[in-house]
Amino acid sequence: MDEKQLLNLMNTLSVEEKIGQLVQLSGDFFNEGAMAVGPVQKLGINQGMVQLTGSVLNVLGADKVIKIQSDYLEKSRHKIPLLFMADIIYGYKTVFPIPLALGSSWNPDMVNLCNQTTAKEACAAGAHVTFAPMVDVVRDARWGRCMESTGEDTYLNSVFAKAMVEGFQGDFTPGESLASCVKHFAAYGAPEGGRDYNTVDMSERRLREEYLPPYKAAVDAGCELVMTSFNTVDEIPATANQWLMDEVLRKEWGFDGILITDYAAIAELIAHGVAESDKDAARLAMEAGVDIDMKTSCYANQLKPLLEEGEISLKKLDEAVLRVLKLKNKLGLFEDPFRGASVAREKKLSNCAESKSLSRQAATQSLVLLQNLNDTLPLTKEWKIALIGPYANNQDLNGLWAVYGDKSQVVTLKTAFEEILNPDHFQFTQGCELLDSYEGLGDFGFFTKEETLLNTDEDKKRELNKAIELAKWADVVIFAMGEHTLQSGEAGSRTDLNLPAIQTAFMEQVLPWVKKSILLLFNGRPLVLTDIKDKVDAILECWFPGTEGGHAIVDLLMGYANPSGRLTMSFPCAVGQVPIYYNGFNTGRPQKTSTHSVRFTSRYLDCPNEPLYPFGYGLSYHTAEYSNLKISNSVLRSGEQVEVEIEVHNSSEISGDEVVQFYIRDKVGSVVRPVKELRGFQKIHLKAGEKRKVIFTITEDLLRFHTRDMKFEAEEGDFEIYIGKNSEDYLVTNFLFEKK
Ligand code: NOJ
Repeated sequence: MDEKQLLNLMNTLSVEEKIGQLVQLSGDFFNEGAMAVGPVQKLGINQGMVQLTGSVLNVLGADKVIKIQSDYLEKSRHKIPLLFMADIIYGYKTVFPIPLALGSSWNPDMVNLCNQTTAKEACAAGAHVTFAPMVDVVRDARWGRCMESTGEDTYLNSVFAKAMVEGFQGDFTPGESLASCVKHFAAYGAPEGGRDYNTVDMSERRLREEYLPPYKAAVDAGCELVMTSFNTVDEIPATANQWLMDEVLRKEWGFDGILITDYAAIAELIAHGVAESDKDAARLAMEAGVDIDMKTSCYANQLKPLLEEGEISLKKLDEAVLRVLKLKNKLGLFEDPFRGASVAREKKLSNCAESKSLSRQAATQSLVLLQNLNDTLPLTKEWKIALIGPYANNQDLNGLWAVYGDKSQVVTLKTAFEEILNPDHFQFTQGCELLDSYEGLGDFGFFTKEETLLNTDEDKKRELNKAIELAKWADVVIFAMGEHTLQSGEAGSRTDLNLPAIQTAFMEQVLPWVKKSILLLFNGRPLVLTDIKDKVDAILECWFPGTEGGHAIVDLLMGYANPSGRLTMSFPCAVGQVPIYYNGFNTGRPQKTSTHSVRFTSRYLDCPNEPLYPFGYGLSYHTAEYSNLKISNSVLRSGEQVEVEIEVHNSSEISGDEVVQFYIRDKVGSVVRPVKELRGFQKIHLKAGEKRKVIFTITEDLLRFHTRDMKFEAEEGDFEIYIGKNSEDYLVTNFLFEKK
C-alpha cells in the first residue's frame, strides 16, 4: 500500500478500532499462552477489545502464530494483520552468547551475522518484531541486566547498536528479517545502587554524552521501534517524559517509528506517583508520544473517554495509529500476514548446522582469558583432565533472555570433552551445588529452576570425595563454576558479586589436591574475583555462551582456537568500587598525580581505585608487541585529518587475533572531560611472527562533545592519544587541535 492508501484505511477505522492498534496483549488472550516474561496481572480488557488488538507479545512458533493470525483476520472487519513482537534477544532456538559476551568479541560484523541468522529462524516461527537490541550503557555490575548489554562504553555500544539493528532488519526481506526495537530508552542501565527499576538521575550533559548515543546510533541505523524504559529521567518516568520522547527522540533525532512502552509501564506511572489513575497514566503516555501500550488496559479502556473529554486529540491518536499501520505495511503484512511463518521452515532452520557453527564461532570469540599463569593453557591431550563443578555437565548455558532457546541442544562441557578424549584422559563430576539455597531467586516465567541434585549430606560428601579422588588422579583440574542463571537478567540485582559461597568453600577443599587448576566462569555480569584469583592458575570468563558453549570452550582450552575476547565491562576488585568504568573524570585530586598528600587524594583506604581487570582487557595464547606509535601531523585543523599509526608484532609462534584499541583524551575543556574515551578499534589477525601497521584517522568529528553551553562541538587545544591492548596498557602520543 502507498501512504495514501494507508491513510484511507486509517480513516475508515472507528475510534475503537484505532485504539486497538495501540494495544498489545500476550498470547493468553488468544488462548495460545505467551512466554511469561513479566509480572502476571489481570488486565480487565473486554473481549471486544481483544479482537481489535493490534499486536501480540511473546507468542512464537509457526503453528501458533498462523492459527492466531488466521482466526483474528477471519473475524476482523478491515483485515489488518496482527504484529507479532517478541523478546528474541540473542537467538531464537539456536542461542548465541549473551550480549555482554558478544560485546567481548569486539566483532560487530560477526554479531550482525548472528542477528541475521536469528532473524531468519524467528521469522520462520512467525516473529515480526524483536525487542532488541538492548543498548543501555552499563557500569554497575550489581545490576542483573548487564548481561543484556554490550557493556560500559558509549562508543562501543553505539557500534554494536548499529550492527545489531542492521543484522535484524537487513533490507526487510519478508521471511528473513525482523523489525528491531531498541531499548530501554533511556538510561535504564544506570539505576541507583544497581537495583533494577530504581531511580536514574544524572545531568543532561552526562545523559547526552554517555547514555543517549547508543540509542541514537540504533535510530540512525533505521531501527523501526523504540521502547521506553521503566526508570525516571530527571524525576519523570521515561514513559511519561515528553522532553525525552518528543523533544529529543522525535524532534531532535527525527525518529518517526513506533514508540512502545516496556511491560506495564503505563500503569506503573501510578506507582511512580505521577498519575492518579489508569486514565491519568494513559493521558500522560499519550502526551509523551507513546504509541503502543504493552500489557496494560490503560490505552484499551481509557483512550476513548480521554478523547471524548478532549484530554487528548484525535490528531495525536491518528498519528500513533498511522505509525503502526506503516510498520505493518513495511513488513509486507497486508500482502502476506504470515510473512514466511512455516512449520516446516521453522523446523529446518532451528538449530541447523549453519546456525550452530556460527554460534560456536561467536562463543569462541566471546570468551575472555583473564589469567594464564605459567602458560597453563592450552592443555595437551596427554594430560589427565578432571572437570569438576556445577557447570561441568549442565545445559543451562543460555542465560536468562534466551526465551525461546532450545536447551536440549546445548552442548555441555562434558559432552564436548568426551567427543575428543577417552576416559583415560578425561573424567568429570558435579562436585557441588550452584547455590546453597534457591529460595529468593523467584520465578521467571519460562525459565524453570532445575531440581537440586545433591540433596542430602551423604550426596554432598560423596561428591566431595569423588572430586578429591579425581583431583589426585588428574594433571589438571578444571572447575566449572558461576552464577545461577536466575542471578542475572531482569530483576537479578545482587550486592554480593563473589562466586557463590558454596562453590568457593568446595574449591578450598579440593584445591590442596590439585596440581594445576583452571577456573571457568559462567555468569551474566562482572564478578569480584579478588580472592579466588590467586588460588588458581588460569581463569577463563565464559559468560553464558549459548548452544555451542561446550564446544567453544573446549576448543579454547585445548588450543584449537586462540582466545581473542576482551572485556567490555571493568571487573571490580571489590563491590564497593561500583559503578566503576574506565572513562571517568580525573577529579581535582587524582590519586596518582595530585600534589596533595596521599591521604587527601581521591581514593579508597582499603582498595585500589583501579579495577581488577580493566575495560578492554583479555589475554591470548600468542604474544603481541605494540611499538612505533607515530602521528602524521602534530597539529589537526578543522576540515583536515591526521593519521596515527602503530606497529603490532605477533612475536610468538601462534597465530591469533588482536583487538587494537584507540583512545583519545581531551586535556582541557570548557567542561571536565573523561580521562580517556574509546574512539576506534580494529580486530586484526596476525600470523605467527607477523608485523602489521594499524592506522586510525582523526578528524574534528571524533573530538566533539557537549560544551559548557551545550553545543556539540570540538574545542581547540591539546589532545592525547593512547593506542594499545586495553584501557590501561598502551603507547601515548599527542596533537594540537586548531580551528582555522
Ligand atoms: C520487560 C523487559 O524490561 C523488556 O526488556 C522486555 O522486552 C519486555 N519485558 C517484554 O518482554
